Amino acid sequence: MKVLRTASEVRGWRADQHGVGLVPTMGALHEGHLSHIERARGENDAVIASIFVNPTQFGPNEDFRSYPRSEEADLALLAAHGCAAVFVPSLEEMYPPGDQTRVTPGAIAVPLEGAARPGHFVGVATVVVKLLGIVHPDVAYLGQKDFQQLRVIQTVVRDLALGVRIAGGPTVREADGLAMSSRNAYLTPEQRRDALALSRGLFAARELWDQGVREPDRLTNAVRRQTDGPGIAIEYVSAADPMTLAELHAPADRAVISLAARVGNARLIDNVLLGMDVSELGD
Ligand code: PAJ
Repeated sequence: MKVLRTASEVRGWRADQHGVGLVPTMGALHEGHLSHIERARGENDAVIASIFVNPTQFGPNEDFRSYPRSEEADLALLAAHGCAAVFVPSLEEMYPPGDQTRVTPGAIAVPLEGAARPGHFVGVATVVVKLLGIVHPDVAYLGQKDFQQLRVIQTVVRDLALGVRIAGGPTVREADGLAMSSRNAYLTPEQRRDALALSRGLFAARELWDQGVREPDRLTNAVRRQTDGPGIAIEYVSAADPMTLAELHAPADRAVISLAARVGNARLIDNVLLGMDVSELGD
């Protein structure tokens, strides 16, 4: 596996490749990340991952400094999963002196994470567009775990006519249901148990949906009932249109139920997609 640290090294590598799949990450890799590597390997001639903890998507009081970093272990995992190359740029490589351009997504980035984390999606869209410009992949793979991020990037890539397919892959969960996340490392064993209520709540909403319930407030109330214990501070529970992320106020034939919550020092997000599959989104 080639470890590439500059954009010009990536361009040199890319010139010798045919179909390339890109899996962008911030490292601290887990099976969720690796699921995209595996899928990309099956669908492309070569897979390149990126590892970059992107400062522009973190707010001033967020966890940029403490975000888990484990480059050596990450490189070993990527190599073991058949990655052909990994791009590990420095801060200066991605944001050299004089850097001043930002990608500002539209309405899809306003609610939910956009409201809770001002500037977050500008940082995400900017770094992903940059990575796409450096790598020129045929396909980039993103996870349903960060559902709004997936839809924001699909929308940006469409609107800017970047000509890259943005493929969404399902959320990988621990055996007990907790969505895998690099931020789960912040949880104590007790908080880890508390956090289980998040996926339990989302699964309860999915069960209602499977029984035919379509009223958005009944679905979100089912989540709230599971999650309103001590140890969990809910930021939002939402039932939204999966295409636009606009909040639903009437029964619909598809929905994304999403939540954000604080458990101890960790801010966790999760969602379930109802009435459609993540693979139906994009292209
Ligand atoms: P990161 O949180 O490292 O996630 C990298 C990719 O893995 C994202 O597409 C994310 O949705 C996906 N992912 C995370 N947890 C997952 C899980 N449990 N199952 C499946 N996929 C999962 O998301 C980012 O980094 C950054 O915002 C990035 C897109 C790299 C831009 O900086």
